[in-house]
Amino acid sequence: MIPKLYDQYFVKKEDERRHLFQILSERFNLESGIYPGSFVHLTPAFYIREMIFIDNDRRINRFFSDPTTLEYINEQKIYNGEPKVIWRQGDYTEVGDLNEYSCDIMFSFYAGFISRHCKRFLKDRGVLIANNSHGDATLALSDPDYTCLGVILRNNQRFQIKTEEIEPYITKKNGSAFNLEKVREKMIGEKFSRYAYAYMFRKCCE
Ligand SMILES: C[S@@+](CC[C@H](N)C(=O)[O-])C[C@H]1O[C@@H](n2cnc3c(N)ncnc32)[C@H](O)[C@@H]1O
Repeated sequence: MIPKLYDQYFVKKEDERRHLFQILSERFNLESGIYPGSFVHLTPAFYIREMIFIDNDRRINRFFSDPTTLEYINEQKIYNGEPKVIWRQGDYTEVGDLNEYSCDIMFSFYAGFISRHCKRFLKDRGVLIANNSHGDATLALSDPDYTCLGVILRNNQRFQIKTEEIEPYITKKNGSAFNLEKVREKMIGEKFSRYAYAYMFRKCCE
């Protein structure tokens, strides 16, 4: 059975983004992932065996503790082995525990400056996938701890990773520098010459 909130917010809205997580799991060896600001966007758990979800919406406690949720992941998962799902209801800037976790991938979609606040949960050379809706991709493009590997393009339910000729996706039309102060204040990303659904980064250790 499809968990009710997941059905309501993601299946019925045709926004599960399954193909995105599929192509990422094919490209990278992903054992573990973290998704701050996930709400009940469960889809990565179908492709990544160990997933951490964090959101300050109170509904996630009931959602993740309902046995239907784990049953559904078990039905949908593409990997061998038991799924491991950890969740925290709370502000991702204040999560006090979870420090022992160091994940292969971190997702940042429409939920603020995760690249900065949750960097410690991503392992060195781990992958960050961030969109630019709230400006997180702009911040990560300016952060020396991240190297941009490419962009992700979306066409309805299909996604494509593009690693070459990405300059127009990471530069402004007039070529000017990013106004990071404004991005932080307004929580809106810089507009680039071409639009990408999301950006793919490697966390660098040097
Ligand atoms: C627009 S929804 C996006 C949900 C999901 N990431 C997606 O792509 O569909 C933003 C979510 O981020 C959560 N959120 C925003 N800021 C947060 C914070 N500082 N700590 C925890 N959750 C946060 C909100 O509660 C909300 O559920």
